[in-house]
Amino acid sequence: MGWYPWNEFGQEPQNEKLIREMVEALVSSGLKDAGYTYIGPDEGICFSRNSSGKLTPNLKRYPSGLRGLGDYIHRKGLKYALYTDAGTHTCSKAMPGTKNHEFDDMMAFAEWRADYLKVDWCNTQGQDVARTYTTLRDALHAAGRPIVFSLCSWGEGEPWKWAASVGNLWRTTGDICSPGKADWHNAMKIVTANEKLYQAAGPGHWNDPDMMIAGMDGLSEAQNRSFFSLWCMMAAPLMAGNDLRRITTSTARILTNLEAIAINQDPLGIQGHIVRRKGQVEIWGGKRLFDGSQAVLVFNQGATPAQVQVAWPDIGVAEATMLYVRDLWTHRTTGPHTGGIFTTVAPNDVAFLRISRTSAFPVPPVIVADTYLVSLRAARPGPEKLSAAVTVETKGSAELALWRVWPELPSWLSAAVTRDGKRQTFTNTVSTAGLKKGHYHAVVRADNIEPVSRKPMSALYYDVDLEVAQGCAGN
Ligand code: GLA
Repeated sequence: MGWYPWNEFGQEPQNEKLIREMVEALVSSGLKDAGYTYIGPDEGICFSRNSSGKLTPNLKRYPSGLRGLGDYIHRKGLKYALYTDAGTHTCSKAMPGTKNHEFDDMMAFAEWRADYLKVDWCNTQGQDVARTYTTLRDALHAAGRPIVFSLCSWGEGEPWKWAASVGNLWRTTGDICSPGKADWHNAMKIVTANEKLYQAAGPGHWNDPDMMIAGMDGLSEAQNRSFFSLWCMMAAPLMAGNDLRRITTSTARILTNLEAIAINQDPLGIQGHIVRRKGQVEIWGGKRLFDGSQAVLVFNQGATPAQVQVAWPDIGVAEATMLYVRDLWTHRTTGPHTGGIFTTVAPNDVAFLRISRTSAFPVPPVIVADTYLVSLRAARPGPEKLSAAVTVETKGSAELALWRVWPELPSWLSAAVTRDGKRQTFTNTVSTAGLKKGHYHAVVRADNIEPVSRKPMSALYYDVDLEVAQGCAGN
């Protein structure tokens, strides 16, 4: 989950000011608190290659440098997304691609502390898709930073067949719109193509039907709601693409609906699909959730309201089963029902339902941190003890077990975790005894278990920087 500039802005006016304004808006609009985390420039003319082959940031557009922008994003408790291309150049040819520079370039992204890297497929004549992205994966591993790897070959090379062990997400189709021009019709074509690939999706390897257009000019509230529900149902990456500085209350309410996000972020990671069509109405199912419930989406593409029956056999349940139904947009629970339910759906609108044997509808963990960067400075000459905290909260229903910090920390750093309900605090303690003057860096990583399904959760991590201004005596 995050925000990316391309759908709204294209290349212009991407620059540091825009990204910073969007970071502020991501926080103030409530999107950060709903789990949107990754943010940064897309093809934003961020860097060039110098005469010795090294990537160097474009300081005119990004005066803090690309590491500086990343630090700013991390300090806000967000993760840093960057973009490049697998060929000779990016699509507009305004930036160099990684061809023949794979290992050095991935090292540069790791040094800039990217957490997410989208790699486009322009200007790749003669390159094999699977081989190229596999080399880039190896280069990312060699660079040593945990970076979400987003493949963007627009479905070329059918990545859903081989990329689960290569990347974390892969675009399944062409672009959802031209910059600034939300295109509902094209979005629906993308849904049709992406829906068919449901078997390829799973935790850590997702079909990506592109960044979202919800909230862009030209879509109605019903279309925004339907679009978002479809992306949630398809377990699609939720990269918002609208201008967050002028987000409306209605769009913010849609994009931050935690009950819908719970379907998208479900730990089982199943992509739903169409189980039944009745005229212009689709019933989507096949999305079992971590607590034993399931999600069902009724989508009316017709021009008139539709009265639709969701019969239990349509969703794989015996007719006599007693089930509660939660409407994820009205936030009301009814039931228990047997046989099925009737619902009326307006044109271009949806009924987004969660169906369960119990009336509890738990939200899985959605992790929000106050910062992902700790910076400490030891100014005095002798040994010093310093400490700084990182607070991590789950917006899910259940408290989490204590996060377990990975043991491989440098000798100058320790991290201890304490819990206060859904919030946990990582206290980072630094001891400068024996350290020379200089800069030190470590990545603290931690694991957890989702408490309802008992499935392992993705590792959490943050950066710790230490500056030792004078060093200890004798150093
Ligand atoms: C391709 C990608 C888009 C965007 C542009 C940038 O078209 O599919 O998402 O990154 O390149 O040029």
